[in-house]
Amino acid sequence: MTISFVGHGYVGLVTACVLADFGNKVWVIGHTKEKIERLKKGDPIIYEPGLKELLQKNIKANRIFFTLDYNKAVPQSDVIFIAVGTPPKDGGEADLSSVYSVAEKLGKHLKLGFTVVSCKSTVPVGINIKVEGILTKVKPQKANVAVASCPEFLREGSAIYDTLNPDRVVIGSDSKKAIDRLIELHHPISGKRVITNLASAELIKYTSNAMLATKISFANLISFYCEKTGADVETVLDAVGIDKRIGRIFMNPGVGYGGSCLPKDVKALTKMGEVLKINTQFLESVNAVNTQAQKNLLQKILKNIKNKNICVWGLTFKPDTDDIREAPSLFMLKELLKYDYTISVYDPVGSGNIKKIFGKKLIYHKDPYTAVKNSAGLIILTEWNEFKQVDLEKVKKLMKNPLIVDGRNIYEPKTMAHLGFKYFSVGRKPIA
Ligand SMILES: NC(=O)c1ccc[n+]([C@@H]2O[C@H](COP(=O)([O-])OP(=O)(O)OC[C@H]3O[C@@H](n4cnc5c(N)ncnc54)[C@H](O)[C@@H]3O)[C@@H](O)[C@H]2O)c1
Repeated sequence: MTISFVGHGYVGLVTACVLADFGNKVWVIGHTKEKIERLKKGDPIIYEPGLKELLQKNIKANRIFFTLDYNKAVPQSDVIFIAVGTPPKDGGEADLSSVYSVAEKLGKHLKLGFTVVSCKSTVPVGINIKVEGILTKVKPQKANVAVASCPEFLREGSAIYDTLNPDRVVIGSDSKKAIDRLIELHHPISGKRVITNLASAELIKYTSNAMLATKISFANLISFYCEKTGADVETVLDAVGIDKRIGRIFMNPGVGYGGSCLPKDVKALTKMGEVLKINTQFLESVNAVNTQAQKNLLQKILKNIKNKNICVWGLTFKPDTDDIREAPSLFMLKELLKYDYTISVYDPVGSGNIKKIFGKKLIYHKDPYTAVKNSAGLIILTEWNEFKQVDLEKVKKLMKNPLIVDGRNIYEPKTMAHLGFKYFSVGRKPIA
């Protein structure tokens, strides 16, 4: 098939490369000349493990092409995916301006045959019907188009694996012809098929992210109880998670969830509920606990690190990505700077993006050991494997004061006590 993608971010580019790798001809339509030129040369712009190699392989094989020109790509396409961002507006609702403007451009360039326009962007219930309305209004009279919702569930950091091996492929459409075409396109991809209508497909995505956020906030809520009672959150959640009805996966206490999806989708689902006159207190609490988890960690830092030279390891919202959107580090760094801390930072790939925001306010390092040298406290905000495997004896020797505030519970308190660290983690007894 010939496929087009509009948007070449974590979702668009990864899926485009995977579908090209299956032998499809794939067009990626962008809106920034400089970025399209970089992509043509095999630079993925974003960091995602394995993406650069997959991109370059498919450029060489003449299967993936980049353009700013809708007319080059759209008329040839059997399926078009919209994969543009839907960031939160100030009030929390999803900003759909890119989705609408892209729909209008797509509609004008549709070919005379049948085309499926499928939305991978996360959009509130009812938006794909609006997209269909825009396409129908502007398309050439003889062009035949059907809209589908194929929400994306990939995780940054393992996006290629997830695209090839999703738990499920959701295809929502009111058109049988569109569903059949999308089933055929997804043929090489594993995972359960969920074939449904537009509204259900749209809601599946929000429900999934709201549930994931709930698991994290619930774990954090229990960590608050643990800190007040002397219980150990990891032991509590391990025991609770043995129950097959509950499970332990993703119930991770810590500095809270971040990233480009969970915070925005919880807020957008809340806004959707308000419009539908549904009581959204539950979702508001999920969000509030997340904010509280960040504030709690800040308090541990303020209370226990009086000397102002500190180090932060981990800036991205999760490991194996360069994405810092709504990362807990953004909140923490802003707050710590207000308290006049001098902050050395290290992240395996995220420093560049942090530098765009904080500039010279932070001291950037290229390895974790130089970053921590002479610091009076080390704060861990992302659970990169590199930090789990670090030489802690060496870290202790380098630090002015061997004290760690761990926002991801990556070390065992007993080990830290044995090594002679002061160690403050989440929902576990401090080693002071
Ligand atoms: N990142 C994830 O892990 C993830 C997972 C599942 C779903 N999603 C959803 O997928 C969508 C895309 O997310 P992402 O992380 O890939 O975003 P992103 O910010 O990485 O990429 C968005 C892309 O859209 C392009 N774009 C924006 N406006 C445009 C316009 N008017 N015309 C053409 N291109 C335009 C940008 O240049 C960029 O390439 C969002 O709705 C998100 O919620 C993201």
